[in-house]
Amino acid sequence: MRIDAAVRDYYDRGGELGRLHGGRGRLEFLRTRDVLRRVLPPAPARVLDVGGGAGVHARWLAADGYRVRVVDPVPLHVEHAGAIPGVDAVLGDARGLQEQDDAYDATLLLGPLYHLVDRRDRVAALREAARVTSSGGVVVAATISRYAGLYDTLVRGRHLEPEVNRITRAELATGVHEPFDRDLFTLAYFHHPDEILDEFADAGLPGATRYALEGGAWIFADRDGWLDGDDRTAGLLDALRATEQDPTLFGISSHLLTVRAVDG
Ligand SMILES: C[S@@+](CC[C@H](N)C(=O)[O-])C[C@H]1O[C@@H](n2cnc3c(N)ncnc32)[C@H](O)[C@@H]1O
Repeated sequence: MRIDAAVRDYYDRGGELGRLHGGRGRLEFLRTRDVLRRVLPPAPARVLDVGGGAGVHARWLAADGYRVRVVDPVPLHVEHAGAIPGVDAVLGDARGLQEQDDAYDATLLLGPLYHLVDRRDRVAALREAARVTSSGGVVVAATISRYAGLYDTLVRGRHLEPEVNRITRAELATGVHEPFDRDLFTLAYFHHPDEILDEFADAGLPGATRYALEGGAWIFADRDGWLDGDDRTAGLLDALRATEQDPTLFGISSHLLTVRAVDG
């Protein structure tokens, strides 16, 4: 299985190495960690981080005492993730994992579903995650909101540029984000918040739970010191936690996490 050339080219540039350290990425990181720390089985559980990139989550998971393996199709990512103490990293594809059945207590898909534009591939990735996760363990998948591109281009003041407007309209209609400009991410699928529940169900994981990661705060929180680590950051995280499961706020959130325990 091969990843799309545009996706590979985008990640080969190394943008993932620092993406979650600042700006909007910092809020995504803090909220992902906040939710994962509540839904994962306790350390030293075994965690498979599929599409784990350069290991931004693997690093803190290993520091928390988890046994972590990163799987990613981009060699640069595997090289960086594998250099993190306590993290093992291998090349691989979410749609066809090389792992044994029931080998992990938690399987994370924090990125692969963004780049699988064919629904069958997304369901295959979720089915693989369920297969390698033991009963009582959890599968956690991140998705990008259908409306994230629209708000992103609005915030950047680019919404009425004809080409930007064209791709935004297309992604609102189909979910497929096909940028012409590397500044606007790469080939991706932007989920309607309700679609991910059906994809989990079709992978044998019905009744999953969704968490809005950033709510509406990603539109402003990278500015004016909201993420400087003071009381305002704590307040922001508290507010997002209080509203994270309200379905009326799912569409405005840039990312959703969907979580499902694996049945025995
Ligand atoms: C936006 S990055 C996310 C990285 C990291 N998990 C995070 O949360 O910051 C998406 C990741 O998915 C990986 N990816 C893309 N297609 C994939 C596939 N078919 N199987 C597994 N990983 C894939 C990319 O190489 C990249 O590392």
